[in-house]
Amino acid sequence: MPNTVGMAAQLAGQSLRFGWYFALNRALDWRTDRLGKTPRYRPSRPVPSQRELLADQAQLLMSDALAVRDGLYPPMDDAAASPLRHLARVWAMFADLPQAYARRADKDATTAKAEAAAVGVPEYYAQDFHFQTGGYLTEGSAQLYDVQVETLFMGAAGPMRRTAFAPIGEYMRGRDQRKATLIDVACGTGRFLRQVRLAYPAMTLKGVDLSRAYLGEAARQLDGLRGAELIEAPAERMPLEDASADIATSIFLYHELPPDVRRQVTAEVARVLKPGGLFVFIDSLQMGDKPGWDGLLEAFPHRFHEPYYRHYSTDDLDGMFMAAGLEADMTSTPFLSKLMVRRKR
Ligand SMILES: C[S@@+](CC[C@H](N)C(=O)[O-])C[C@H]1O[C@@H](n2cnc3c(N)ncnc32)[C@H](O)[C@@H]1O
Repeated sequence: MPNTVGMAAQLAGQSLRFGWYFALNRALDWRTDRLGKTPRYRPSRPVPSQRELLADQAQLLMSDALAVRDGLYPPMDDAAASPLRHLARVWAMFADLPQAYARRADKDATTAKAEAAAVGVPEYYAQDFHFQTGGYLTEGSAQLYDVQVETLFMGAAGPMRRTAFAPIGEYMRGRDQRKATLIDVACGTGRFLRQVRLAYPAMTLKGVDLSRAYLGEAARQLDGLRGAELIEAPAERMPLEDASADIATSIFLYHELPPDVRRQVTAEVARVLKPGGLFVFIDSLQMGDKPGWDGLLEAFPHRFHEPYYRHYSTDDLDGMFMAAGLEADMTSTPFLSKLMVRRKR
């Protein structure tokens, strides 16, 4: 029976969420303009109108709600943080803006390298990605990350992650979730793992990430639910057995990796997957995916510290996956993301 009530609740919740993050997005832009030290970058390629962006986002939210109606997966449950804690984080995001903004003037400035947690992590990793104070290495950054990302995507980061559910659901049809293992590669603060746990209560879940602070936040996301094994390790050398996973996911990781590390991580994903296993990749759109939006991708690394994004935006992901033995299943481009589903040979 269609879950119409679930769909209505999902749509209402998502609309409220969108309104809130849209307002934060505008407020952050306004505040940044007041700081006004660097001129805004004008891309040479076309950018979408506000209307096109919102229409595409509405389509994403609608398809998520329809999947809930059809019982394909549960409604989004984003309630791991209390409203008060959420507001405190929003406040902290605005409070951090002046120092993050000041670092824009000096592309090489980084607070991450000075953190104690930077000892032993790869050189490319100890940077202030997005201009986050402390990079990925501090509790403060882990607490702000989700608010920052949802503000950037106007509440669409969660729904973009959830597009992984359709291929996972298809793969799991007829399989016993108690015997299945999913690894979320670079799980960050665990937002996706939480959604997977709600959809698959009996599946074995593992999350790998280099940031202890982000893994701590991920553990809190899973509070009250059956947990996941959270592993502090580089994605290019995961301490996991060969052919031990049925499903690997990787969300918003690859654009932050140097080209050679992207390839090492892909080889690792192929190594840990069982033959026939599923790889679900979600990251930014690439140049040419939506030609009328290319200007957004051109402008992104001017606005945020994203040293590897430009290379990512034209990298041959298909060729890279193929070379690692991950064969094409499907590719689509929900809103600002690229969803690539691959199967291990
Ligand atoms: C943009 S965040 C994405 C996090 C999460 N997947 C999400 O959907 O929000 C990038 C994450 O990748 C992690 N990361 C970056 N390079 C890594 C590496 N080489 N090995 C493991 N984790 C890495 C960071 O610590 C951070 O948590």
